Amino acid sequence: MSGTSLDGIDAALLDLSTTTPKLLATHYQAYPADLKDALLALHHPAHNELHQAQLLANELARGYATATAALLQSANTSPGQVRAIGCHGQTVRHRPEAGYTIQLGNAALLAELSQISVVNDFRSRDIAAGGQGAPLVPAFHHQVLRHPDIHRVIVNIGGISNLTNLPPGRATTGFDCGPGNLLMDAWIAEHQGQPYDKDGAWAASGKSIPHLLQALLQEPFLHAPPPKSSGRDLFNMHWLKQRLSGNEAPADVQATLLELTSYGISNAIKQFCAGAEEIYLCGGGAHNHVLVQRLNTELPNCRIALTDQLGIGADWLEAIAFAWLAQQTLHGRSANLPAVTGARHPCILGAIYPA
Ligand SMILES: Nc1ncnc2c1ncn2[C@@H]1O[C@H](COP(=O)(O)OP(=O)(O)O)[C@@H](O)[C@H]1O
Ligand SMILES: [Mg+2]
Repeated sequence: MSGTSLDGIDAALLDLSTTTPKLLATHYQAYPADLKDALLALHHPAHNELHQAQLLANELARGYATATAALLQSANTSPGQVRAIGCHGQTVRHRPEAGYTIQLGNAALLAELSQISVVNDFRSRDIAAGGQGAPLVPAFHHQVLRHPDIHRVIVNIGGISNLTNLPPGRATTGFDCGPGNLLMDAWIAEHQGQPYDKDGAWAASGKSIPHLLQALLQEPFLHAPPPKSSGRDLFNMHWLKQRLSGNEAPADVQATLLELTSYGISNAIKQFCAGAEEIYLCGGGAHNHVLVQRLNTELPNCRIALTDQLGIGADWLEAIAFAWLAQQTLHGRSANLPAVTGARHPCILGAIYPA
């Protein structure tokens, strides 16, 4: 898995032969700074972008192959023992309203280098069927994390935050709620030269600016009813800077961005997950203590914990979900939830590149 944060590659080795996935090994491989910059640049129209995109797709495939090799070595496992790699790829454009989404990563090259079959391009079929192509993890959450009597909500705080609503006895729903870490990451990179605000410490040193927060919270996406999905196409530095006067203290902007992420999540839960009892967090943003504290304050009636409490480590849930999604593809089973993505029907997702 390589998500919107553009931080790197989460590789997980899974045994999916039983209903409860068994995590055998994990490996994290950070993106080199120049790869992150080149990927960021590709999010916007630019000269010669088709060529650039293909070169980056190859570089990503080599990165995925290196991560796979390190993962397998740590688990003393050979490529021949692995059924498939589920490879999300790196999103550089997500435009369901225009009928497409692009996740870079040359799956043919990854299959060639790893000698393992690859399943990729999980989102396009759902978009072809009229859906958002996202989020796709709710089907996995439904399968593995729902409780027969307790109303749970799973919140993934990646670059973008998304949630899955698991009310007992009713349909599972889910959607992207708004920014996760991506605005906070971009702002601290510009002002402090750090890739992210560790534990929310810089945000905690500032003070949220009420009128800026109000302006940010006016974004229509945050109030739109699901199905909805988002990405850097909407939430980016250009979007933020259009709403700044330029006189704000940088740490105060960081504090405000943290509040924006917190409200995006808590308002979504209040509005669309009424009666939620337990909230389980995953994704890198779950390590931001200040953000988690704000969520606890905003949602006093919910018990908030990490997905670790349910037996799935918060840092690996998305990677595990894409292994599971690849298994669904190979077994010819649909894995999008039309109630989540808005697709006209369930679809078998993904493309298969045999080893
Ligand atoms: N200790 C931490 N404190 C605050 N933020 C963190 C911490 N650890 C990770 N993060 C955030 O999590 C992000 C990575 O999260 P991840 O779940 O990989 O997102 P994505 O799926 O978008 O790649 C980092 O860019 C950073 O913003
Ligand atoms: Mg990541």
